[in-house]
Amino acid sequence: MKIFTTKSDLKNYFKELSSKEVTIGFVPTMGALHKGHLSLIEESKKNNGITIATIFVNPTQFDKKEDLEKYPKTIDKDIALLKETGCDVVFTPTVEDIYEGNVSSNSFDFDGLEHEMEGKFREGHFNGVGTIVNAFFHIINPTNAYFGEKDFQQLQIIKKMVEKLHLPINIVGCPIHREANGLAMSSRNERLTSKQREEASIIYKVLQSVKAKLHTESIGNIKLWVEKSFENHSSFKLEYFNIADEATLKEITEIKPKRSYRAFIAVYTDSIRLIDNLAL
Ligand code: PAF
Repeated sequence: MKIFTTKSDLKNYFKELSSKEVTIGFVPTMGALHKGHLSLIEESKKNNGITIATIFVNPTQFDKKEDLEKYPKTIDKDIALLKETGCDVVFTPTVEDIYEGNVSSNSFDFDGLEHEMEGKFREGHFNGVGTIVNAFFHIINPTNAYFGEKDFQQLQIIKKMVEKLHLPINIVGCPIHREANGLAMSSRNERLTSKQREEASIIYKVLQSVKAKLHTESIGNIKLWVEKSFENHSSFKLEYFNIADEATLKEITEIKPKRSYRAFIAVYTDSIRLIDNLAL
């Protein structure tokens, strides 16, 4: 596995490769890798000649300094895992190399997708994500790029960015990986105590119950039930729960035929923020 730490070295590598007409699969990450990330690498390997992962904790997508500082960093373990999974190339640039002294986001118009759910609670987050993913797309020029459905809003926003900027990149969404108790795998789970990790199974249990209740109850009543469930679980604080249209990400109040919907949730335990979603 080749490891590059500067964009100029990586670009040189791709220049040499360009005559070989090989397809490139790209898996962007912020490190603290888990099985969910590795499944993206495996998916990419099935469909591309070369698979490249980036490990870069992107400062511009964090709205809270504390969250950025506490973001788990496990670079040696990550590199070992990528090697084991058969990743071909890893790019681990510094903030200076990527942002060249101007650590700020570009402003994107994602047709309003950015104002729903996460956008209401994490100011500037999606401009930061768009900025870094677009920068990597221009350095790497991937054929296919892989994103997990755990960050479903991010996945839809990246699809929108590619459409609006006319980038010739196929965006592939991959299913959520879960712990045995249903907790969606996330790098942030590293910060949970074993008790919190165990108790966090409530999130998936609630989502599954929502799916079951949808046959018999109104969306309004389901929302009230979700709020009550978290009120009864004092170690978790519900930030939002929505049932939304997969394409527009707009919250809905009734189910219409021929549309696809998901339940979305964000909760805090202590200062750790967990998100999850379930296709309905
Ligand atoms: O999903 C993530 O880990 C990040 O938002 C991404 C896509 C790697 C951009 O920093």
